[in-house]
Amino acid sequence: MTPTPTPVRYDRISRWLHWGMAGLFAWIFVSAGAHALAERSALDALLWPTHKPVGTLLLALLLARVAWALARRRRPPAVSALARLGHLGLYALMLAVPAIGLLRQWGSGRAFAPFGLPLLPGFDVSQKVEWTLQLGRLLHGNLGWALLALVLGHVAAALWHERAGHTPVLARMAG
Ligand code: HEM
Ligand code: HEM
Repeated sequence: MTPTPTPVRYDRISRWLHWGMAGLFAWIFVSAGAHALAERSALDALLWPTHKPVGTLLLALLLARVAWALARRRRPPAVSALARLGHLGLYALMLAVPAIGLLRQWGSGRAFAPFGLPLLPGFDVSQKVEWTLQLGRLLHGNLGWALLALVLGHVAAALWHERAGHTPVLARMAG
């Protein structure tokens, strides 16, 4: 039996998930940036109401992405151990940041219906779960900014590999 050759590019679904989520991440970081730097500006008024629903959508897409990656293991090998570690770090933060945001939302006792879908029914707000609020306050924003830093490093590394010419990584993801 001939061994299956290693694929030269990511499959179509992985590519769509990568670029679709990259677009939504750009959206959510602009919303977080406007909220941090220009609270009550027109941009903040426009984007901040979308922060929680878009963040929840990103968490759902991430779960689909992980399930797809596990189900379909055939993908190009990472260019180095550092690249592999960087991708793992991206996955860990893509999970932790919205999960902590949602956990805090649950713990606040307030109902939450992203895009009109009744995800969290809410409960008596006088019974709020204090540790989830503290965890959110401590980690959600800080890990969110750490994710942004890692994404910027990821983009710089992809462009560097492309320019240095040893592996055409953009083509693997562009299709
Ligand atoms: C991957 C998705 C997400 C990213 C990258 C993200 C990122 C961030 C960042 C960087 C901040 C800090 C803004 C500042 O410094 O003022 C922030 C704030 C906030 N986020 Fe998210 N977020 C995500 C998802 C969510 C979700 C799912 C929820 C809730 C359902 C949420 C709720 C909040 C709230 C209430 C704040 C303001 C309070 C705070 O600074 O902790 N976020 N987010
Ligand atoms: C302009 C923005 C971006 C560019 C140019 C870019 C470029 C790339 C390229 C070329 C690859 C393939 C690397 C390889 O073949 O080894 C890749 C993979 C990857 N990228 Fe990005 N990327 C961008 C944004 C993002 C964002 C915002 C995230 C997540 C927050 C992300 C997460 C990943 C992950 C986890 C992989 C590993 C493959 C996978 O499991 O999907 N990227 N990226």
